Amino acid sequence: MSLKFITAEEAASFIKDGDAIGFSGFTAAGAPKAVPSALAKRAEAEHAKGNSFRVGMFTGASTSDLLDGVLARANAVKFRTPYQSNKDMRSAINSGDAPYFDLHLSQIAQEIRYGFLGKVNVAIIEACEVDEDGTIVPTTGVGIAPTVARLADIVIVELNRHHSMSLKGMHDIYEPADPPRRREIPVYTVRDRIGVPYIKVDPKKIVAVVETNLPDGVASFTPADEVTVKIGDNVAGFLASELRKGIIPKEFLPIQSGVGNIANAVLDSLGKNTEIPPFSMYTEVIQDAVLGLMKEGHVNFASGSSLTVTEGVLQDMYHNMDFFHNKLILRPQEISNNPEIVRRLGLITINTALEADIFGNINSTHVSGTRMMNGIGGSGDFTRNAFISIFTTPSEAKGGKISAFVPMVSHLDHSEHSVKILVSEYGVADLRAKTPVQKAEAIIENCVHPDYKQILWDFLKLTKGGHTPQNLQSCFAMHNQLLKTGDMRDVDFG
Ligand code: COA
Repeated sequence: MSLKFITAEEAASFIKDGDAIGFSGFTAAGAPKAVPSALAKRAEAEHAKGNSFRVGMFTGASTSDLLDGVLARANAVKFRTPYQSNKDMRSAINSGDAPYFDLHLSQIAQEIRYGFLGKVNVAIIEACEVDEDGTIVPTTGVGIAPTVARLADIVIVELNRHHSMSLKGMHDIYEPADPPRRREIPVYTVRDRIGVPYIKVDPKKIVAVVETNLPDGVASFTPADEVTVKIGDNVAGFLASELRKGIIPKEFLPIQSGVGNIANAVLDSLGKNTEIPPFSMYTEVIQDAVLGLMKEGHVNFASGSSLTVTEGVLQDMYHNMDFFHNKLILRPQEISNNPEIVRRLGLITINTALEADIFGNINSTHVSGTRMMNGIGGSGDFTRNAFISIFTTPSEAKGGKISAFVPMVSHLDHSEHSVKILVSEYGVADLRAKTPVQKAEAIIENCVHPDYKQILWDFLKLTKGGHTPQNLQSCFAMHNQLLKTGDMRDVDFG
């Protein structure tokens, strides 16, 4: 059966109002880049005629402006899950224009299979190769592509010539069976391959192949500043001391690290710390810093769901595939983030909080408890199941008007039961084997910004009785103060 090569506009015409679409990729890496724009134009044209046109969106994680941005601006979103970081999509979510639900990234593929999320009508998959027998080789990101391609009624392939065919063989595609037939997922080391290096679909479902030549467009990081460097050094110093004490085994344990500037600074500090031996990564996003550390010999292997790297770093990797190919695996996020594997491998997990409370609970998602930032992402998959779970955060935000440490988080993503270590630029609070009051003392003493230390000591004095001596009358006083005067420092617990 021969493949049908058509334009993005023609491919978009296969999609109907109300369809649920599953997209390949994870972050901007591997996400479709041409058909979503054509679809957004179609939605705008239908809206201009007074017709409804909105689609449901299942993705791996965040995407790029060429997917989330265009569809949000066209007001073409019927629902969106599980994670995003695009400013227009975020606004549409917070205004209610884009109905959104937040999910752990390891769970979306299985929730689709279980039938919790409705049907997938269309899959749009970016590939570096597609064959007439239904074999599809993904590009730099996998995400939920194997599941949505298998379950969708029709598949549209974006064949992106920008990517090197040398990516072939880097993917390890595996879908677990559903209960009651689920068995253990046989990943016993970060390097284990358990599947095949391609996605396979019924070739009759591939209704269109759209050729593109578009980069992932991953944005560069802002250079590390004093705060992020200190956070990185504090994490590295803590891990080196755990190694010295023999708590972390001498061969070290695989690292999971979130994305962004703090994660970059942490990786940089881990690479520079001479006590930390070369390590491997079992993570969701492989970012620039990882490939740099690999070249320097600090990272010996990385398994993830995407290669979210800037264009220069990607091209450098393509030119040096002899070096990189056997050091990288790209997996579906159901495997890269799988709780069973995270616990088996004993990952050291490092994620970032928006806000933490003095008892060790974390808010990763909601600004002031109400406005969605990005979503929980993989942070829950990793944190709950880690060998040691670490959360990092600058001690304050918005020039000091907001303390990252508060009496009670305004939204809860990770509970005190899962969070073991908190790190700010001021230091490390080790919450293990501590009572709630001892945790509060460690956090205020070691992590809180000097401007807020006395405020939080005063709060702790107000609390009385019980195992966790929360003060329900005053625990949101700092948040309320922020709403009233725009500065938490003005708080009066009354
Ligand atoms: N209250 C209000 N605003 C706050 C805040 C708080 N307590 N803490 C930070 N902010 C603001 C910052 O000032 C910044 O605003 P700005 O963009 O206007 O400057 C914004 O929130 C977040 O800053 P950003 O630079 O985007 O932070 P980041 O890149 O370090 O990301 C998270 C932090 C928490 C948003 C991000 O790590 C995330 O989405 N985490 C959840 C998913 C996850 O952990 N994924 C990785 C798992 S593998």
